[in-house]
Amino acid sequence: MPTILGIESTAHTFGVAVVRNGKILSNCKKVFTTEKGGMIPMDVAKFHCENKNEIYFEALDEAKITEEKIDAVAFSQGPGLAPCLLVGMRFAKELPKKLKIPLVPVNHCIAHLEIGRLTGAKNPVMLYASGANTQIIAYASGKYRIFGETLDLGVGNFIDSFGRYAGIGFPAGPVIEKLATKGANYIELPYKVKGMDIALSGILTNLRQKLESKSPRDTASPMLPAREPAKAGDSGEPKYSLNDLAYSMQETVFAMLVETAERALAHTGKKELLLGGGVACNSRLQEMCRIMCKERGAKFFCPENSLLVDNAGMIGFLGEIMFKSGIKFKGKKIEGVDILPRQRTDEVQVDWK
Ligand code: ATP
Ligand code: FE2
Repeated sequence: MPTILGIESTAHTFGVAVVRNGKILSNCKKVFTTEKGGMIPMDVAKFHCENKNEIYFEALDEAKITEEKIDAVAFSQGPGLAPCLLVGMRFAKELPKKLKIPLVPVNHCIAHLEIGRLTGAKNPVMLYASGANTQIIAYASGKYRIFGETLDLGVGNFIDSFGRYAGIGFPAGPVIEKLATKGANYIELPYKVKGMDIALSGILTNLRQKLESKSPRDTASPMLPAREPAKAGDSGEPKYSLNDLAYSMQETVFAMLVETAERALAHTGKKELLLGGGVACNSRLQEMCRIMCKERGAKFFCPENSLLVDNAGMIGFLGEIMFKSGIKFKGKKIEGVDILPRQRTDEVQVDWK
């Protein structure tokens, strides 16, 4: 029974996990966060460098193993931020060189999907909603095929940008989810589904304008109209409450995701929907998917939150499957392995299924 070390470093999270026989023995991580503003790739890479050793030893301790017990190292090869990927890859190559064990390069997005096996899903349509990616995917003839995707921003990055405009730090998704539960009024937003694809940048601009618009100043003059048109920079109160905007954003954008996922179910004739990626932690998105599946007699699957967000457990989990099917690099070949910051889900030849 091989023991696999998994390493994740595509973006904000540096993670190390130990996996054996499909069981995640440890899944440790440290996540770069900010109080205000987004992520600067070089700052995140520095954060990973500073924390990698501590997380590595924590993962070995938690799994109760020493490093000599590791049979192969799997790491996130891409897609992701190049400076962050490089930290992970260099770290991942150290042990294979020292212990003469193989290296297994793993596609991060496919790891988000394959970890769904733990839920019992067999042949699902997958709604992969994470920071940089938003795709409707189904497996067919050796590849994960993309049936629909965002034409511009990933839904998590979209939510984080909305949060940044509202003065919320990174990641904004969990905070926005809480605010949305307090929203009571639905504010009309653009709804952008184009065939099987969605577009989010126009909605983001619209939300930004709404965040900046102010109600007219209260004046006593009966000569002024009751409601002047709102102007950005006016010194009145915000015209829309952040709670209502958060609520309306979720209702609109999640409906777009559910609509395209439902169309993919109808098109492929598949009977299972699997959620993946960090945005899938959102309870309202889960609820909307559950309702849609119930209405059309499909089964709904969603891994636990710790396996939805970026984590090394999913990298070790897919790494073990690939290792067992013979996909690995050893000896001098390890030097030739490089990061793939722009690798697409449908480029990967899936030889392990
Ligand atoms: P990718 O997998 O595309 O490379 P990523 O690795 O940045 O992107 P994940 O860790 O899978 O993404 O997800 C992080 C994203 O999930 C962030 O944008 C974050 O705001 C969002 N997110 C996390 N929890 C929630 C939530 N409860 N509601 C909405 N969004 C959430
Ligand atoms: Fe991710």
